[in-house]
Amino acid sequence: MQSRSNYKATWDALAQSQVDAQLHVAGHLDESEWARSARVTLGVLEEFVGIRPEDEILEIGCGLGRVGRVLAPRCRRWIGGDVSPKMLEHTRRLLADLPNVELVELSGVDLAPIPDASVDVVYCTVVFMHLYEWDRYRYVQEAMRVLRPGGRCYFDNVDITTDHGWEVFSAGAAYPPEERPAHLSMVSTADELRTYGERAGFEQVQVRPWGGAWVALTGVKPARS
Ligand SMILES: C[S@@+](CC[C@H](N)C(=O)[O-])C[C@H]1O[C@@H](n2cnc3c(N)ncnc32)[C@H](O)[C@@H]1O
Repeated sequence: MQSRSNYKATWDALAQSQVDAQLHVAGHLDESEWARSARVTLGVLEEFVGIRPEDEILEIGCGLGRVGRVLAPRCRRWIGGDVSPKMLEHTRRLLADLPNVELVELSGVDLAPIPDASVDVVYCTVVFMHLYEWDRYRYVQEAMRVLRPGGRCYFDNVDITTDHGWEVFSAGAAYPPEERPAHLSMVSTADELRTYGERAGFEQVQVRPWGGAWVALTGVKPARS
């Protein structure tokens, strides 16, 4: 398999120890920055899709549960899905004190373990940069399947039109092709994300910039579907 598509092998190799995993998830080992950034993401989710105490929420690519740590206490059930069993092993230990957390291993291109119409919110943050565009869209389609009617979705990526996005793009462009890491970050545009939301059949599709570097897609599953 071409290496960028082999998400499971790539991310299991990057998550061998908890320290390695944290460095590849966040790029640092600073606990206060970890907690601060989690609160920022929580605030974005609250503002963009709303978080209710009765919600059952799925994160695609949950990593070490950076967001789950602060989100699980605010909802009925938080499900962390990730392609890497090694990553999930660390996360299971880190979130062991939270009673409403479930972790599921994903194939890397679908949400097969999650039943149809079974969750209220699906979100995916700091993951699209590592995926091919086809697989980004598959997750938007899968979100449509697993959401209950009226359920909300959120997906983000680094926005190429920002200065930070251009830095990320340029850093990738600097690699000789044969040396590109399989998880090399690749950026998005608002139009790309809007297209996924609309093509997958979401209503109230919006794309919004945030934090000077990010663009987020949100949408609502039609009530009748
Ligand atoms: C940069 S980390 C972000 C983790 C978490 N979302 C956060 O914001 O802290 C990317 C995560 O996505 C996971 N991942 C990578 N490719 C994936 C895929 N195809 N499907 C599901 N998860 C994937 C990795 O294992 C890793 O945990």
